[in-house]
Amino acid sequence: MTSAAHTAPANEQTYDVHRIKADFPILAQQVHGHPLVYLDNAATTQKPRAVISALEHYYAADNANIHRGVHELSGRATKQYEEARAAVRAFLNAADDREIIFVRGATEGINLVADSFGRSFRAGDEIIVSTMEHHSNIVPWQMLCERSGAVLKVVPIDDDGEFLMDEYEKLLSPRTRMVGIVHQSNSLGTVNPVKETIARAHAAGARVLVDGAQAAPHQRLDVRALDTDFYVLSGHKMYGPTGIGVLYGKRELLESMPPYQGGGDMILSVSFEKTVYNKLPYKFEAGTPHIAGPIGLKAAIDYMQAVGLERIAAHEHELLAYGCELLAEIPGLRMIGTAAVRSSVLSFVLEGIHPHDIGTILDREGIAIRTGHHCAQPVMARYGVPATARASLAMYNSRSDVEALARGLRKTIEVFS
Ligand code: ALA
Repeated sequence: MTSAAHTAPANEQTYDVHRIKADFPILAQQVHGHPLVYLDNAATTQKPRAVISALEHYYAADNANIHRGVHELSGRATKQYEEARAAVRAFLNAADDREIIFVRGATEGINLVADSFGRSFRAGDEIIVSTMEHHSNIVPWQMLCERSGAVLKVVPIDDDGEFLMDEYEKLLSPRTRMVGIVHQSNSLGTVNPVKETIARAHAAGARVLVDGAQAAPHQRLDVRALDTDFYVLSGHKMYGPTGIGVLYGKRELLESMPPYQGGGDMILSVSFEKTVYNKLPYKFEAGTPHIAGPIGLKAAIDYMQAVGLERIAAHEHELLAYGCELLAEIPGLRMIGTAAVRSSVLSFVLEGIHPHDIGTILDREGIAIRTGHHCAQPVMARYGVPATARASLAMYNSRSDVEALARGLRKTIEVFS
C-alpha cells in the first residue's frame, strides 16, 4: 500500500460512513468470529432500519388489500401504495405516475416489455443487446425471437469492458425494433453511455429498454433526460425489499401495449362477452400486488435521498479507486473490467486459484463476496474465464472493508502457496 492510500480523501471526512453503517442492523454481527464485511451488494443490498420499520409498521398497523375496500385500513394501504408510486416517479424524474408499473423486479419488467411490446414483432425484425448484459436482458429477447422470428444482434465489448459504439452503429438498421442495454454492468462495473445509445437507436427508429438494476443505487437517475423508452430496476439492489421492482415506460408506449397478465385490478369490467381493461398503471398490475414492497421501497428511496445521492456516488467512487489501488498490489490478481467509467464493482481472478476457493476462504474471514458467472456467462466467455470473484460496494462500505478484502486475498494466496 502506498502512503497516499492511508490518507482519507475530503469526501470521506464529511461523509459519516460509520453512522450510515449503524443504520443497518445486520452489519453489526460477527461471522466465523470476525466482524461481517459485506461486499456482495450487487447481488443484494442490506436494509436500513427505516425500511425494516416501514415494513413492520405496514403489517402491524395498516395491512389490507388496496383499491378494493371502503374501510379505513384499505384506504391507508392504498394511500401508501400510491404514495410509493409517486416517490418512484420523482426518483426517476418521470413525467407521470401512470408511467410507473410495480413488478417483482427488473427481470419481470424486461419480460413484461418483451412479452407485451414484443407482441407486434415479426420475422426479420431485429433486437440489439450488448455482450455485457445480465441473462435477464438476454433471455427474454431470445424467447421473443423464438416466438416471432426476430433476430438477436450483439454489440461486442473491448478488453476493458467498454461498449463499442461504432460496432453498435453498424448493427443499427431500419429493421431494429428494440435495443436492450445495461446502464451499469453487474459483472464488470462498466457504466454505459446510455444517453448516446438511446439517441442513436431513436435516430434509427428503434425503442430502447435500459436495465438499471445496478445503476439505481449508485447514481441519480433521470429517465426524461435520457429519453429512454423503458427503464427497469429492482428494489432489493437499492436497500429496499426483495420481490419489488419497477418498470418505467413512456406513457404513449404503455398505452399502446396489451396487458401482460390477466386478473383482478387490471380490468374495468368483465363479462363472458367482453372484458375492458383498466387504465394505466393498473392495466399491468394484475392480482393483489406485493403491497408492502413499494412501501419498503419508498422508505429506501427516502433514506438514500436523506444521505444524498451525489454524496453516496462520490463516496463509492473514492472507495472503488481505493479498492483498485489495493488490489493492484496483490500478486497474480487480474481485474476483469477496467472501463474508464465504472462504478462499485471489483471483479477479478487470482492466478492458479479458483474464484470459489477465494470466496470460501474470504467467508472464513467474515468477508462476503460473490463468485461465479454473475448471470453473465457471455461476459465470462469474452474474457475466457469460467468465473470471477466479485466484491461490490454500497453506501455503508468503508475503507476498512476494502482493506479487509485485500488482507483476505493475501491470506488466500498464502493458503494456496
Ligand atoms: N444479478 C445479481 C448479481 O449480479 C444477482 O449478483
